Amino acid sequence: MVSRRIFLQSIFALAAAPFYIFKSARAMSIFKNAFVTPPLDRGMRKGSDLYFNLNLQSGESSILPNVTTPTWGINQPFLGVTLRVNRGDKVHINVTNNLPETSTLHWHGVKLPAGADGGPHQPIKPSETWLSEYDIDQPAATLWYHSHQMHKTGEQVYNGLAGMFIIDDEQSNLLNLPSEYGVDDFPVIIQDREFNDDGSLNYLGRFDLEKGMQGVKGEVMLVNGVITPTLSATKTLIRLRLLNGSNARVYQLLFDDNRSFQIIASDGGLLETTVTAKTIRLAPGERAEIVVDVSDGGMPKLLHRPGHDLMPNMNNLSIIQKIGMAIFENDDEVKTEFNILQIDARQATASDASVPNKLTTHVDLSTHTIANRRVMTLKMDSGSPLTSITTAILGSRDLMTINGKSMDIMRIDERVKAGSVEVWEIRNESRMLHPFHIHNVQFKIVARKGGLLGHETGFKDVVIVYPGERVEVIMKFPEFRDENIPYMYHCHILEHEDRGMMGQFVVV
Ligand code: C2O
Ligand code: CU
Ligand code: CU
Repeated sequence: MVSRRIFLQSIFALAAAPFYIFKSARAMSIFKNAFVTPPLDRGMRKGSDLYFNLNLQSGESSILPNVTTPTWGINQPFLGVTLRVNRGDKVHINVTNNLPETSTLHWHGVKLPAGADGGPHQPIKPSETWLSEYDIDQPAATLWYHSHQMHKTGEQVYNGLAGMFIIDDEQSNLLNLPSEYGVDDFPVIIQDREFNDDGSLNYLGRFDLEKGMQGVKGEVMLVNGVITPTLSATKTLIRLRLLNGSNARVYQLLFDDNRSFQIIASDGGLLETTVTAKTIRLAPGERAEIVVDVSDGGMPKLLHRPGHDLMPNMNNLSIIQKIGMAIFENDDEVKTEFNILQIDARQATASDASVPNKLTTHVDLSTHTIANRRVMTLKMDSGSPLTSITTAILGSRDLMTINGKSMDIMRIDERVKAGSVEVWEIRNESRMLHPFHIHNVQFKIVARKGGLLGHETGFKDVVIVYPGERVEVIMKFPEFRDENIPYMYHCHILEHEDRGMMGQFVVV
């Protein structure tokens, strides 16, 4: 039975492979577009109370030459405005849904009460308004917000329901980092899209079986909604807040001249010490802040080069990990390199900012008593071609599972004690990489064979788990108790999440 399934999977993979491996990047107006910084929304302040009004809206965007693209956005036609708050603020966010269908808005990476989380349990019907209120009580960080509508997250984010959410705090303000928004500190929301000839976004047809299993990728690279833009630097030190806002693509980023840069922050905020690197890998949902020195006045290009520097040390990997990595690297568009953006530093003037080696101090969770250990086993069953067809017709979503179960909004999978420290071991028993995300926490990766890549030493809310790999994460759950409203954990490949690779936990 087992061997038959593996056999069928291999046949299916082989049959699908040519379509992915030999695709070539579409020639676009590379680096002709100007970089666009999303508008900043700092809310309406009354003391430490901060009020936001957000509208989920549809609109038209000029992304490609000569055609317009119907898009969705938050307070603008495509993507969201950047929300910026301080630690210690209490935010009150009114989200009004002006879209033709039910949606949600989730604050990814924020520690908050379950009822304010904006997950599948807080749907907003068309023309209704949802109020989300919570205290900002976590360090400075680059977070984001996006739709989390049951079975629709992939499509709604693809349409544009995503934006950046920045927290500042006193400690990070004291550092002399580049921090002037739109001047030397930029959001970089990286997304890949596929377009139809009429300019509309090409998401996923009901019968795109393999595309749904792999996750939806496109060959047009957007940064903040603009195709491969050029950022004209006015300062010689540039901070990029990188967000992989793509549905499924994992980026391996590096500069074309191989210059090094400094990694200063991960998902949860500043690293303890600055890491110098030449490349960084970001899976969907992951963020990292990097500072690039362009005092040479050059024009470096940021590229995505799949397969570049896989892991720090391949020799340390177990045989099963090596096989997993080989399969992953042999996946889809491996041979194709993509341009992401260019920095034009010819007019840059000397920056007063600097990047210290020591950035902050993290609490050491490893000294805490571990209240519980849990295992999360991720599986996907591409099944036989026959079951895939029935799936497409009948719409079963049982292909993607965690611990043998596909997401059921009526079922609570785990109960966690408020304030406790837990270790979760995520086991990937599939042939694809999965970026695993947990709501309401920032965790540390305990260890991984091959070592931790630069930003992986910091606090994270998404962790890449390679095929065949097991990764342990440790985290302290905040003190928000709610017997009834759960938080989510899931794969952040949005088509996997939508197809059931998601579970629910309550904090009690
Ligand atoms: Cu970025 Cu459950 O989400
Ligand atoms: Cu989240
Ligand atoms: Cu996945």
